[in-house]
Amino acid sequence: MSEQGTKKSGGLSRRDFLKLMGAAGTGLAFAPFVPFGNFMPNPSQATLEKVKVILPDGTQANVKTFPINHSEVITYPSTGDPALDAEAFRKWQFIRLPQELGGDKQNVSSFRAYSMVCLHLWCLWKYWPEEGRKRGECPCHGSMYDPTTGTAFAGPASLQAAPSNTLAQLNFESDADGFLWVLPPTWGVNDNGVIGYGRFAS
Ligand code: FES
Repeated sequence: MSEQGTKKSGGLSRRDFLKLMGAAGTGLAFAPFVPFGNFMPNPSQATLEKVKVILPDGTQANVKTFPINHSEVITYPSTGDPALDAEAFRKWQFIRLPQELGGDKQNVSSFRAYSMVCLHLWCLWKYWPEEGRKRGECPCHGSMYDPTTGTAFAGPASLQAAPSNTLAQLNFESDADGFLWVLPPTWGVNDNGVIGYGRFAS
């Protein structure tokens, strides 16, 4: 199974499958017969090295400069292939928490990254920093996510049983200069979670 990323599977390559997912958008809940486990990111396909948190402008995120109460979209794992890197399952909301939730700390505790794939029907949610919001919101059916935990607290995703009420997440470390790195994840519900499926909140 470790070669799944390059092998054909039932006539459908992983790359084709990912392109299909991008095209299908929110409609994939209709396809329970698809062997998602063969295609979703997993340890055999992910680098075991930590990688830089690269922001959309190409720079590496740094605790000294990334604004408080702010988010950007990051891609993980990045392949360098624009078609693959555009896939929803590689997109994460990289959030620096608002000050009142601890975002002013000059270390990794200020940061979160959650899969953007909503746990309800796989629309893409985002973080809204406005006063009175400061939460993740999904535009499709109104699920809302707590930025400190990644757990849904309103809308249909909040009604789903654990682990499908809490988003997959990435973990970080910062170096001596404040630059942020993604630590190698473990894709399991008791670890970093499973994208589009969820995570048991610890
Ligand atoms: S897909 Fe996000 S609330 Fe339905």
